[in-house]
Amino acid sequence: MSRSRETTNEVPDNVKAARTLRAAALVVMAVVLLFSLTLVTVTAQLPKAPTRRSSMRNAASHKPRIDYARFSHDTHVTRQKLACDSCHKFPTKNWKDVRKADIAFADVAEFPEHSSCLNCHRQQFFARERPAPAICSNCHVGVSPRDTTRFIFPTLGDVSDPTRKRRDSVSEFVVNFPHDKHMDVIAGNFQPGGDRSVRFVQAAFQKEKPKEESDPKLCVICHKTYGPQGDSAEEYVTTPPKNLGDAFWLKKGMFKTIPVSHAPCSSCHNTDAGIEPAPSKCDACHKLLPAGNLSVDFDPKVATALGITDRIILERWQRRASAGTFPHEGGAHPGLSCTTCHNIPTMNTSDLKTLKVAVKSCGGAEGCHISVTSDEGGALNFEIDQRKAKTEFQCTKCHLVFGGQPVPASHLEAIPKPVKK
Ligand code: HEC
Ligand code: HEC
Ligand code: HEC
Ligand code: HEC
Ligand code: HEC
Ligand code: HEC
Ligand code: HEC
Ligand code: HEC
Repeated sequence: MSRSRETTNEVPDNVKAARTLRAAALVVMAVVLLFSLTLVTVTAQLPKAPTRRSSMRNAASHKPRIDYARFSHDTHVTRQKLACDSCHKFPTKNWKDVRKADIAFADVAEFPEHSSCLNCHRQQFFARERPAPAICSNCHVGVSPRDTTRFIFPTLGDVSDPTRKRRDSVSEFVVNFPHDKHMDVIAGNFQPGGDRSVRFVQAAFQKEKPKEESDPKLCVICHKTYGPQGDSAEEYVTTPPKNLGDAFWLKKGMFKTIPVSHAPCSSCHNTDAGIEPAPSKCDACHKLLPAGNLSVDFDPKVATALGITDRIILERWQRRASAGTFPHEGGAHPGLSCTTCHNIPTMNTSDLKTLKVAVKSCGGAEGCHISVTSDEGGALNFEIDQRKAKTEFQCTKCHLVFGGQPVPASHLEAIPKPVKK
C-alpha cells in the first residue's frame, strides 16, 4: 500500500505494472487502482499543487504517520489557505437551543459539517479503523450506530451541560482584544455619534458599574481568579509531598481566567449593533499563535509531576512568559490594582511578548520584592546576590525555567540605587 502512495503521480505506470500481473493478482490490482483513483480525485480537489502533497507524504513516511485525530488549523488555514467560513458557519442552526431565550445570541455553536471536509478527506472518513475512523474523534465523542454524540462546541464555555463532554485540547489561537480601545467603551464613557454602542451594553456591564479605566471591576467582567482559595481549606491544587519544604508546588488562586465564550463580546459585536468586527468575522478576533519563538517560564514536566490536568490551568500556565510561579491570590497581590502590574496601553493580546509584566512592578510602591540591599529583604536582591556567589544558583522565587538562565539586564536595572547621604 505504501508503495502505491509514493507513486500516485504516475498512475499510468502503476496501471501498466499492474496489468502484467497474473490473474491471481487481479484482486490486488483492483484495490491498488481504486486507491490510486481516490488519491487522484483528492489531489485534484486540493487548491495547492500536488507536488506539495507528495513531498509532504514523503516526509511523512520518515516521520510518524499523520494523526487524523488531531485537527490543526495550521494545516488548513496557513497551508491550505482555507477561509474560516469554509468550515465554520455563522450562525449555526442550534444557537437558539444552546442558551436560554433571554441570554441567547446568534453564535457559532456547533462543529463544522461533514460537507466541509469530505472533498479532501473522503479516504479518512471511510477508513477501515475500529471502532470508528480516527478523524471522527475531532468532533464526535464516539461513533457507533447507537452513539453519534458530539463534544460540546468549545464556544460554549459558558454553558454548563453535564451530559455533554468537552474535548480536551489546548487552543491554537490567541484572541485579539485591544484593551485600550475598549476600556472607555465598557466603562460607559463611549459616545461616538450618539447612544448606539452604549445601548448595546448588556445588563452585565451596567451592573458592575466601573467608574474609570483602571477600576479593577472593569477587568473582573472578563477576568476572574480561577479556582479561588475559598473553594476548600486545601491550599494547593494537588496534594504535595510531606517533605515539600520550600520547593514549588502549585497553589490555588494563581491564575486569572480569560473569557470562555463570545458572551462578553456579543453585547456589542452582534449582528444588530453594526460595531465592527461583526461576529462572523472570525479572523478579526482569532489569530493563530505563531509557532513559538517566545520563551515561556513553564515546564510541562513540572505540571505532569504535580499531577495538573486541568485544561484552563495548563492553557494559562503554558503562556506565562514573565513569572511562572506568580500567584494572583498570594500575599498582598489581591489588594493591588490590576494596572500596577499590567500596562494596558502597551498590551496587544495577539502579540504575547507585549503581555510581559515588567519586573519593576514586583517592587511595587513599597519595594515588596525589590529593595535597595538584600538586608532589607527583597527577594530579587537575595537571588541576585546568591547567583553572584554561586553561578549554579537557581532563582526559584518567581521562576520555573528562567531562574537557571543568566540574570537579565531588566533585573539589575530594577534595583534602586542607594540614596547618597
Ligand atoms: C478545514 C476546516 C476549518 C477551517 C478552514 C477553520 N476551522 Fe476552526 N475548527 C475546525 C474544526 C474541525 C474544529 C474542531 C476541532 C478542534 O477543536 O481542533 C475547529 C475549532 C476551532 C476553534 C476552537 C479550537 C481552538 O484551537 O481554539 C477555533 C477558535 C476556531 N476553530 C477558529 C477558526 C478560525 C478563526 C478560522 C479561520 C482563520 C478557522 N477556525 C478555520 C475546522 C476549521
Ligand atoms: C482543501 C482540502 C481540505 C479540506 C476542505 C479539509 N482538509 Fe484536512 N487536511 C488537508 C490536507 C492537505 C492535510 C494534510 C495531511 C494530508 O495530506 O492528509 C489535512 C490534514 C488533516 C488532519 C491531520 C492533522 C492536520 O490537521 O494536519 C485532520 C485531522 C484533518 N485534516 C481534518 C479535517 C476536517 C475535520 C475537515 C473538515 C472540517 C478538513 N480536514 C477539511 C486538506 C483538507
Ligand atoms: C468536523 C466535525 C465532524 C467530523 C470530523 C465528523 N462529524 Fe459526524 N457530525 C458532525 C456534525 C456537526 C453533525 C450534525 C449535522 C447536522 O445536524 O446537520 C454530525 C452528524 C453525524 C451523524 C448523524 C447523527 C446525528 O447526530 O445527527 C453521524 C452518523 C455522524 N456524524 C457520523 C460521523 C462519522 C462516522 C465520522 C467519521 C468518519 C464523523 N461523523 C465525523 C460533525 C462531524
Ligand atoms: C470585555 C472583556 C475584557 C475586559 C473588560 C478586560 N479584558 Fe483583559 N483580556 C480579554 C481578552 C479577550 C483577552 C485575550 C485572551 C486570549 O489570549 O485569548 C485578554 C487578555 C488579557 C491579559 C493577557 C492574558 C495573558 O494571556 O497573558 C491581561 C494581562 C489582561 N487581559 C488584563 C486585563 C485588565 C488589567 C483589565 C482591566 C483594566 C482587562 N484585562 C479587561 C478581555 C477583557
Ligand atoms: C502584583 C502584580 C499583579 C497584579 C496586581 C495583577 N496581576 Fe495579573 N499577572 C501578573 C503576572 C506576573 C502575570 C503572569 C504574566 C506572565 O508570566 O506572562 C499575570 C497574568 C495575568 C493574566 C493571564 C492569566 C494568568 O494568570 O497567567 C491575566 C488575565 C491577568 N493577569 C489579569 C489580572 C487582573 C484582571 C488583575 C486585577 C484584578 C491582575 N491581573 C492583577 C501580575 C499581576
Ligand atoms: C461595550 C461594547 C463592546 C464590548 C463588550 C466589546 N467591544 Fe470590541 N469594540 C467596541 C467598539 C465600540 C469598537 C470600535 C472601537 C474603535 O474603533 O476605537 C470595538 C472594536 C473591536 C475590535 C477592532 C479594533 C480595531 O483595531 O479596529 C476588536 C478586534 C474587538 N473590538 C474585539 C472585541 C472582543 C474580542 C470582545 C470581547 C472580549 C469585545 N471586542 C467586546 C465595543 C465593544
Ligand atoms: C468580536 C471578537 C470575536 C469574533 C468576531 C469571533 N470570536 Fe470566537 N472567541 C472570541 C473570544 C473573546 C473568545 C473567548 C476567548 C478564547 O477562547 O480565547 C472566543 C472563543 C471562541 C471559541 C472557543 C475557543 C476555545 O478554545 O475555547 C471558538 C471555537 C470560536 N471562538 C470560534 C469562532 C468562530 C468560528 C468565529 C467566526 C464565526 C468567531 N469565533 C468569531 C472572540 C471572537
Ligand atoms: C520578584 C520576582 C522575580 C525574581 C526574584 C526574579 N525574576 Fe526573572 N523575571 C521576573 C519578571 C516579572 C520577568 C518578566 C519581565 C522582565 O524581564 O522584566 C522576568 C524575566 C526573566 C527572564 C526572561 C527575560 C526575557 O527577556 O525573556 C529571565 C531569563 C529571568 N527573569 C531570570 C531571572 C534570574 C536568573 C533570577 C535570579 C537572579 C530572576 N529572574 C529573579 C521576575 C522575577
